[in-house]
Amino acid sequence: MRIGVSLPDTLLSKFDEIIEKRGYSSRSEGIRDAIRSYISYYEWMGDIKGHRVGTVAVIYDHTKRGLSNALADIQHHYSHLIKSSVHIHLDHDNCFEVVVLDGDGEEIKELAEAIMSLKGVKFSKLTTVASNEKI
Ligand code: NI
Repeated sequence: MRIGVSLPDTLLSKFDEIIEKRGYSSRSEGIRDAIRSYISYYEWMGDIKGHRVGTVAVIYDHTKRGLSNALADIQHHYSHLIKSSVHIHLDHDNCFEVVVLDGDGEEIKELAEAIMSLKGVKFSKLTTVASNEKI
């Protein structure tokens, strides 16, 4: 199937740079691979259950109207899961925040999904491990 997608210039040029470095034969092949990773990441997220500890790392543009408030609202809603957080002002516009979590896996996933879907969030990554997992 063929699809048409509109993307900001900067996002597309970064993507092209990466697929060229990684030696993809075409942009389509790179996009297929990116979609596969996206799907497997969300399938992995679907398995987050039981008591978990973890982190959500986020980079976002704090000048985006309403975004800082929306992030704070989400974190207040899930404050029972949040053990700590670190906020670093990266540059004039961008902030880096890491939230440390401990609690129910499904709720941790909800919190992460709520953050990830906010407009203006440029990067987000959830990591979790079962809190009773022996390493
Ligand atoms: Ni900041």
